[in-house]
Amino acid sequence: MLKGDKVVLRAVESGDFPRLHEMSSDVGVHLLADDEPFIPHSLEQREAEIKDWLKKPEQVVFFVIEADGRLIGDCALHHLDSTSRTCALGIMIGDRAYWDKGYGSAAVRILLDYAFRLRNFHKVWLTVRGDNERAVRAYTKCGFVEEGRMRQQVWIDGAYRDWVYMGILREQWSAAAPGGESSADGGG
Ligand SMILES: CC(C)(COP(=O)(O)OP(=O)(O)OC[C@H]1O[C@@H](n2cnc3c(N)ncnc32)[C@H](O)[C@@H]1OP(=O)(O)O)[C@@H](O)C(=O)NCCC(=O)NCCS
Repeated sequence: MLKGDKVVLRAVESGDFPRLHEMSSDVGVHLLADDEPFIPHSLEQREAEIKDWLKKPEQVVFFVIEADGRLIGDCALHHLDSTSRTCALGIMIGDRAYWDKGYGSAAVRILLDYAFRLRNFHKVWLTVRGDNERAVRAYTKCGFVEEGRMRQQVWIDGAYRDWVYMGILREQWSAAAPGGESSADGGG
């Protein structure tokens, strides 16, 4: 478990699946978070998908995000590349009451600390809808910079949207977040 001041990142437990399914079934959240069309899925399908990730820790590292003792979302490192030392970051705060209060960026900072300090990655990258201003702002606060923009690349929610690549290098992480490397005490 990775502990920060605002959020805890911990392993998924069997009792978490109904809540995770509820959050991944929120179409509005899905449209912000994903470039794939929304497809309805059962609790069993969601549980199987996550359990499949757990079997492949060399490819995906999955955490649930807890705040105030509540499960508010999930996040992961994926596309782990052991040669180039790069990985991708994904996050979803499914509980809308927790948006815009710093919980997402707190979780991202902990995930970056895990990627750089504990896993010795060189770079973390992500993709985001160009018009997802909340997410872009949260990532920018954590030190990510735009690295590429595929114009009108994805059809989401009735329109073509830009698909943006953002990245942060290890040296930018140290510079962007002094003291950030101790943000997660790793205890527990
Ligand atoms: C994106 C997400 C992880 C961010 O987490 P969060 O806790 O809401 O974000 P934070 O509070 O840390 O930061 C959000 C920032 O965006 C700002 N913001 C919100 N709406 C905005 C808008 N329309 N335009 C510009 N900035 C905006 C907030 O004011 C805040 O900035 P500030 O701290 O300088 O005031 C979370 O909102 C989420 O999961 N959303 C739904 C799914 C999603 O979009 N996932 C990301 C996929 S790439």
